[in-house]
Amino acid sequence: MLSNIRKATVRYASIVSYLPEPKIENQTSRSMSLLEAVNDAMRIALETDNKSILLGEDVAFGGVFRCTVGLQNKFGKSRVFNTPLSEQALVGFGIGAATQGYTAIAEIQFADYIFPAFDQIVNEAATLRYRSNGNYNCGKLTIRAPCGGVGHGATYHSQSVESYFAHCPGIKVVIPRGPRQAKGLLLSCIRDPNPCIFFEPKILYRLAVEDVPVEGYEIPLSTAEIVRPGSDVTLVGWGTMIQLLKEAADLAKKNLDVDCEIIDLQTILPYDSETIVQSVNKTGRLVIAHEARKTGGFGAELIACVQNECFLKLEAPVERVCGLDTHISLNMERFILPSKFKVYDAIERVVGF
Ligand SMILES: *[C@@H]1O[C@H](CO)[C@@H](O)[C@H](O)[C@H]1NC(C)=O
Ligand SMILES: *[C@@H]1O[C@H](CO)[C@@H](O)[C@H](O)[C@H]1NC(C)=O
Repeated sequence: MLSNIRKATVRYASIVSYLPEPKIENQTSRSMSLLEAVNDAMRIALETDNKSILLGEDVAFGGVFRCTVGLQNKFGKSRVFNTPLSEQALVGFGIGAATQGYTAIAEIQFADYIFPAFDQIVNEAATLRYRSNGNYNCGKLTIRAPCGGVGHGATYHSQSVESYFAHCPGIKVVIPRGPRQAKGLLLSCIRDPNPCIFFEPKILYRLAVEDVPVEGYEIPLSTAEIVRPGSDVTLVGWGTMIQLLKEAADLAKKNLDVDCEIIDLQTILPYDSETIVQSVNKTGRLVIAHEARKTGGFGAELIACVQNECFLKLEAPVERVCGLDTHISLNMERFILPSKFKVYDAIERVVGF
């Protein structure tokens, strides 16, 4: 039965679905989508820090995804404002503002369009503290950008670009898996004394809805979270992949009686190697999933770490389920990106090795 389903659907497997995390006990919370959680984090930042500003293309009217809706009305045009259509200029402005003590939250409309600002990020923002011998920094800068596939985004609206930035010391790179993490991690990025890039999986903006604490809170950066404990195989991912990993783990439990431990890396740079190493030491098997292309993707870095730290504990070669090494075409996206069935197959391979 399963193999029939798999044959029929592996190529065009379902786009991500979303199951909310368990309810929070004893906390005042409200049902929020991921975009509302992002909006709420920025509202809290603007309310609690009168030096905080929000800038980007179209943020004044709420942005293409509505993440900044209502914020200009509430905080005024001097704190929430549109910029010209130049990513290089708007990130440069954010760097300058941050060096002058402003908490700058800059929006890039799509992660695919962050590259005009690549020079500003990797040559200026990331190096400022180092270059000035600690006299200047732009640690109060946070850059937000929607990332990942949505099923119809094609070449310029589907990319996952985290590994380009993972090569650059001096910045932090963070990706949330749902509304609750988005609010806590974004507030951490905004308050962290280093420039941060916060990639928001845009397919989850409206799809992911769950209980989110009403007050402000922070989730520590560079700390992976064990989303589901298990003993046989470690599954590592971030962002939308966590949902795929949960579904693949459910299938593996049902069909193979295999117990998977699911880890959300959350921060790509600097990442929490210890949680992964401890888990792989326990399970001896690792499957990594990311939407970004396989070659040079961040999964390769995780494998290098694990072979170094867990060599004698490994029971099977590490498997990667990644985007294919090509550009994302309009009609082939579901074939190119990971699916729960591709993850399930990888689990089957590592337990059968
Ligand atoms: C911001 O808040 C501080 C401390 O409450 C206050 O001293 C300062 O005048 C405020 N600045 C602005 C621009 O409102
Ligand atoms: C993992 O296991 C190796 C030995 O195989 C050990 O040296 C290392 O300390 C362990 N790491 C953790 C974090 O448990």
